[in-house]
Amino acid sequence: MGRERIKIDLLIHDLKVPLAVIEAGIISLLNRREKYGPLTGQQEKVLRRALRNNKVIKTLVNDALELGKSRQGIVNFSNLRLSGLIEDALVEIFDLTHCNTSEEIRHCLDLEALKNVLEEKGVLLLIDEVLWGQEVCLDAAKVRQILRNLLNNALKYRKDRVELVVDKRDGYLIFSVRDDGEGIPSIYHEKIFKCYFQMDATESGCVRGHGLGLAGVMVLIEDMGGRLFLESGEGKGAKFLVEVPLRASR
Ligand SMILES: Nc1ncnc2c1ncn2[C@@H]1O[C@H](COP(=O)(O)OP(=O)(O)O)[C@@H](O)[C@H]1O
Ligand SMILES: [Mg+2]
Repeated sequence: MGRERIKIDLLIHDLKVPLAVIEAGIISLLNRREKYGPLTGQQEKVLRRALRNNKVIKTLVNDALELGKSRQGIVNFSNLRLSGLIEDALVEIFDLTHCNTSEEIRHCLDLEALKNVLEEKGVLLLIDEVLWGQEVCLDAAKVRQILRNLLNNALKYRKDRVELVVDKRDGYLIFSVRDDGEGIPSIYHEKIFKCYFQMDATESGCVRGHGLGLAGVMVLIEDMGGRLFLESGEGKGAKFLVEVPLRASR
């Protein structure tokens, strides 16, 4: 690893401690009122928002560190249920934009309830009930980050709907994220996976980002030995299909 990269990763890593201190402080104010004093409803709301945003930064810091590890070819396998993995990714996404939805997702008791909550937000989740409860062996941090990036893009660029399909076949986890937005003309299909590339703002008129998400997604997928396929055309929405090899459960 180059010296510059180490310096940047160290800087990102060192953000963890102050973030933990801020989180602990806010949690104390919220949960230990006998010691710190009562809160008005308004104050509590402000603190909860601060806590949520602190959590978002923590996730981003972990994402950045995960990408660094990925570039070194480090893959951390663990056994986990697909339901937990998908729910966590969804909670992280909605924490940022619709915190009430993320609370509802947290409280869903089964797949059917989750599907209903998502459908109200225009998100269709298609997964077999048996697969939902199954354990898989994969690098959860990487897969969560991929899912989050693709879903965030789909939510950002959709017209009305987003569809997430999850399946397992021949030792691979296969998932696709599809939206019904303006789509991506084929001349951009390679370019959007390059760092800092964004399609011309005038073409989609959407809120601009940084053009880093998909480049990161590609690094993570390649390091797991997976593949990504993009199907999209102008005005036809976009579908990103990802195949991630699973390890036999230990
Ligand atoms: N689902 C999508 N529909 C249309 N365009 C997309 C979609 N996903 C990505 N793009 C295009 O690819 C570019 C790069 O995406 P990304 O790397 O995630 O960066 P960012 O989200 O920061 O803009 C986006 O700016 C957008 O132009
Ligand atoms: Mg993005």
